[in-house]
Amino acid sequence: MLRVAVCVSGGGTNLQAIIDALKSGKIRDAQIVRVISNNKNAYALTRAQNAGIEGVCVSPRDYENREKFNEALLECLKEADPDLIVLAGFMVAVPANVIEAYRGRIINIHPALIPSFCGKGYYGLHVHEKVLQRGAKVTGATVHFVDEDLDHGPILLQKAVEVREGDTPEVLQRRVMEEAEWILLPEAISLIAQGRVTIDGNGLTHIADTDQ
Ligand code: GAR
Repeated sequence: MLRVAVCVSGGGTNLQAIIDALKSGKIRDAQIVRVISNNKNAYALTRAQNAGIEGVCVSPRDYENREKFNEALLECLKEADPDLIVLAGFMVAVPANVIEAYRGRIINIHPALIPSFCGKGYYGLHVHEKVLQRGAKVTGATVHFVDEDLDHGPILLQKAVEVREGDTPEVLQRRVMEEAEWILLPEAISLIAQGRVTIDGNGLTHIADTDQ
């Protein structure tokens, strides 16, 4: 059974997609052992509670400096003893101590096709604003492993989504979530739970067929 910790900051629709996929059996051999939020008011914590999952808030506001927060975050993760950490709308740059402790075991969902529309300043609704400002005709979502550089680690899954005439950032965000994010993130967890994902020496991911 793959032990999954999910880190969140806001509404938690991606967390909900994971909870639903576990319930329906789309993800097998995995369980969410803890949901961690940097924001005590995140609706994602209510979603966790409704699903009977332990939710914990670790906020930078409660610590005297960033280093103390980083230590507390790592401690909170370690307590849950996860095999996999899923960043599902987690708006905190993952500290180096966490990346080091869980190298190759942290995945993130980004609401664009990496390496487009990613990096500093590209998070949440801003991503979709920038896609529309640039006039891109296609966007999407990416699940990737997390390394020290923002939105940079090995890409695991991607799905393209059409940009339509008249889209607002909100409308486009919703389409990217519905058509890509809520599908890709559960799928990524399922693949990892089945032991089908490897990362090679060049930082490329490979997905084994089921019959291998
Ligand atoms: C999602 O669109 C996720 O891809 C994005 O924040 C949203 C969270 O929504 N994440 C990032 O931008 C990370 N760089 P949710 O709380 O409803 O899952």
